[in-house]
Amino acid sequence: MSPTTYHRGRSGFRRRKRLTTALSVVSAFLTLAVLTVAQPSADASAQAAALPYQDASLAVDERVDDLLARMTLDDKIGQMTQADKDSIVPQSDVNTYRLGSVLSGGDGTVSPNTAQTWADTYDGLQRQALATPLAIPMIYGIDAVHGANAVRGATIFPHNIGLGATRDPALVERIGRAVAEEVSGTGVDWTFAPCLCVARNDRWGRTYESFGETPELVSSMATVVDGFQGADGPGSAPASVLATAKHYIGDGGTTNGTDQGDTRLTEAELRSVHLPPFKAAVDRGVGSVMLSYSSWNGVKVHGHKFLVTDLLKGELGFDGFVVSDWAAVDQLDGQTGFTAAEVTKAVNAGVDMVMVPYDYKKFIGLLRGEVNAGRVPMSRIDDANRRILTQKFRLGLFEKPLTDRAYTSTVGSAEHRALARQAVRQSQVLLKNEGGVLPLAKSAKLFVAGKSADDIGNMSGGWTMSWQGRSGDITPGTTVLEGIRETATDPSRVTYERYGNGIDGSYTAAVAVVGETPYAEGKGDRPGAMGLDQEDLQTLARLKASGVPVVVVLVSGRPLDIAAQLPDWKALIAAWLPGTEGGGVSDVLFGDHRPTGKLPMTWMRGASQQPINQGDGKDALFPYGHGLTYGTGTDPTPTPTPTPTPTPTPGTGLCTATTKVTGSWSGGYQADVTVRNTGTAPLAGWAASWDLGTRTVTNVWNGTPTTSGGRVTVRNTPWNGTVPAGGTVTFGYTANGSADGLPVPACAGTTGG
Ligand code: GLC
Repeated sequence: MSPTTYHRGRSGFRRRKRLTTALSVVSAFLTLAVLTVAQPSADASAQAAALPYQDASLAVDERVDDLLARMTLDDKIGQMTQADKDSIVPQSDVNTYRLGSVLSGGDGTVSPNTAQTWADTYDGLQRQALATPLAIPMIYGIDAVHGANAVRGATIFPHNIGLGATRDPALVERIGRAVAEEVSGTGVDWTFAPCLCVARNDRWGRTYESFGETPELVSSMATVVDGFQGADGPGSAPASVLATAKHYIGDGGTTNGTDQGDTRLTEAELRSVHLPPFKAAVDRGVGSVMLSYSSWNGVKVHGHKFLVTDLLKGELGFDGFVVSDWAAVDQLDGQTGFTAAEVTKAVNAGVDMVMVPYDYKKFIGLLRGEVNAGRVPMSRIDDANRRILTQKFRLGLFEKPLTDRAYTSTVGSAEHRALARQAVRQSQVLLKNEGGVLPLAKSAKLFVAGKSADDIGNMSGGWTMSWQGRSGDITPGTTVLEGIRETATDPSRVTYERYGNGIDGSYTAAVAVVGETPYAEGKGDRPGAMGLDQEDLQTLARLKASGVPVVVVLVSGRPLDIAAQLPDWKALIAAWLPGTEGGGVSDVLFGDHRPTGKLPMTWMRGASQQPINQGDGKDALFPYGHGLTYGTGTDPTPTPTPTPTPTPTPGTGLCTATTKVTGSWSGGYQADVTVRNTGTAPLAGWAASWDLGTRTVTNVWNGTPTTSGGRVTVRNTPWNGTVPAGGTVTFGYTANGSADGLPVPACAGTTGG
């Protein structure tokens, strides 16, 4: 492709004629201009800051303006093109087609799979980009969703569902920082994380990528964006990598939890449940947003201009760039492959970069044709480039385009593994502990069984070494069994047999580590039964038959349908997908860390209850927020002490609560309740309560609801902080029932902690 080719084909002929005349005038001007500004040369990067866009002392906007003015249409279209590393053949196509971005999808890898090989591969591709006339560095994206999880030997952290159970946004930010260091050490500058999906139906195969089922819990974990990027946006911390808020919008709300399905909600419901986490990420300066494959009321998000341009970029003020999902543009017309019309629809809707990811030449040709035909305005192309280049400048890619090898040694470091182990500890949710069977004595004679007791692959789940993940010894780490043996005073008293064969009544307890094998995306959808598989059930039956107390550790990406088996278990811990540091599970089993995890998802009593969520009035086996702990026990790693929520006596008059209906639909409504501190001292806690009458509250955000006796009380969340005298805080809720004649909530606050 020649970068100077501006127009081609019959329709371009007239335009070319006009263009020739115009060019003769322009060239006179340029001749004068060129005398003062050196033109970019093939080794432009070699000219230290010769041109304004290469001058790091200038404001980013100035650098973008200067660079845009120098770019041809093909330069600009190249920036909007993201190609899969393994499909770029020859690698010099990065240069030839001016590719602005490269990615490795879930199955992308290098050989040998080491951090060094990744860094060398990245640098090779980057050098191709730097050899283009304007030397615009490419940006490399990867799904580092729970560590640098494509890299063998990297630290694999718990998946988001476990991090949601920690209720510890500060911990999650620290994890983002550690992941940024390991990712940077491989050269990669951009992670397709965090998923800020609000998983509303546990049948969804991506439930484990969600921090939880409520917008406020998911929003609270947007701190990970600061961990990835730095607290002041991309490039504001060493080893900063661009974060991606995904998948905008409503991916976790599809009917029946069908991956890439249709989210049928009113705009008010969509805004109240699925939008807040993206606002939280935008407010933290997230550099990119990835769109969702799913649809909203039958319309594909990837072609939805209101959602992408008006709501995300306009109303929320998102100034980063929007990237499509993998070959998602191809889905717009329901046919295989992609067309000019689909490209135009997506780009005009607000997609700034297209994850093609294979046929990048076709994409470039189609988009060029659409621009030349006037169906994609140049203003849209320039806006997309401005957004992309702004993030590249902010990241410092123009100054440091190659791998910072100082971080390569952090991959899988002891420090990061210790942090991951802490996260595993805090993510364990103790759901049952009959007779105080836990914590186990370290001197106990234990029988360990289950397919996931000694299996790093099962513990890590999908997006680990490959897209779908797999069972087995896939990367270095500590299995739950190894953690138990390391902690036991006499490891020889710990027997392991996967299927439970050989157990007898001589054991103190049996520990069964069971649950799900790895999956990702739609392959993990469970439209039917959601119980344990036959192997697990048979193993548990053998353990039960021995009469030994059974402790179950459930390694799964979601709540499972286990109500029928629960009576046979003395204890149950939800371990989620803990990753490589299984020692964190044994820390809880033996009481070195008292369990502090709280359910991020309501736990069904049966699969037929799906979707089942907080406040929907269904009779759950374990409610959202449930989690037991031990009465005593050493806790050398203090867990975060949640701010005590005072239990004010209603009517003490330190605050007022005013309800404002913000949306209504047949049979339901949404409202904001503003709590105002009418006292003279800051309020450390508050509670607003009112009689429900015939109504049922279906969802609450930025508040913690409890319902009893036909009355709902919404208290402050730990992260609400204090309300100054005269100040206000607002929580929201949706409810079934009429919005007419709503009672004025009673309000009570306390000034004490
Ligand atoms: C996918 C996923 C998305 C991921 C992308 C690149 O299909 O939906 O989460 O970031 O491909 O791997």
